[in-house]
Amino acid sequence: MNETTARAGRQDRALPMKIDVLTLFPGMFSGPLDESILKRARQSGILDLKIHDLRDWTHDRHRTVDDSPYGGGPGMVLKPEPLFEAVEALKAREQETRVILTAPSGRLFSQAIARELAAVPNLLLICGSYEGYDERVREHLVDDVLSIGDYVLTNGNLPAMVIIDTVTRLLPGALGDESSPLDESFSHGLLEYPHYTRPAEFRGWKVPDVLLSGNHAAIEHWRKAQAVKRTVERRPDLWDELRWARPKRKVS
Ligand SMILES: C[S@@+](CC[C@H](N)C(=O)[O-])C[C@H]1O[C@@H](n2cnc3c(N)ncnc32)[C@H](O)[C@@H]1O
Repeated sequence: MNETTARAGRQDRALPMKIDVLTLFPGMFSGPLDESILKRARQSGILDLKIHDLRDWTHDRHRTVDDSPYGGGPGMVLKPEPLFEAVEALKAREQETRVILTAPSGRLFSQAIARELAAVPNLLLICGSYEGYDERVREHLVDDVLSIGDYVLTNGNLPAMVIIDTVTRLLPGALGDESSPLDESFSHGLLEYPHYTRPAEFRGWKVPDVLLSGNHAAIEHWRKAQAVKRTVERRPDLWDELRWARPKRKVS
């Protein structure tokens, strides 16, 4: 699925896209999601984002969500009961919800996965904490497990924000310039070409002549060549993937 079909997929459905988040730290979400494109998307009704405190689905005086791991070891583990109760309650409110767990051991989040998620009407993101979750959550409650990279964060709030941000900018109407996500890094398997703006010369460093030429065909050709060059030099893994995926297609 490319950006165009992901966006067309969403246009078939009634807006807004609904994203629910289950977290132990709801306060962490205010700020990053209240600025810029995310703020506009929420205000204009493109994105309906709801942050829920997992402790609201506990029933004891201490609002307990975690317990020590069977078999011993450091840290605490999120208990299954509040998570199952919360997810089942939130899913009952929507017809079609994709439930996603954030975990370092999940599949690696990418632009391709963001496109896939942008076509789904409702997402429910679960932010882990402590040592993680009781494994039965992964086995029996969720549809997918996503990691945002090969490193360990304190909790799943930042991964959830990364996913929300990446998906939201793919929703129709979220960006001022509708063509922006079609041409960005990863949208065609390549990194993006370099950008320049005024002045044409800064501290002796000149903008490439072709960009000042007004020759649109030459500019497009230069940009494609630069995108290929960058990808080969900086991300040979992406270049290999592209070559294997499209052996007969000429890229530049
Ligand atoms: C301290 S981490 C737990 C790490 C876990 N013990 C492990 O070794 O895989 C706590 C929570 O942060 C989130 N988290 C941390 N790093 C992440 C990553 N790279 N991608 C997605 N979620 C992550 C997950 O929700 C995780 O349950």
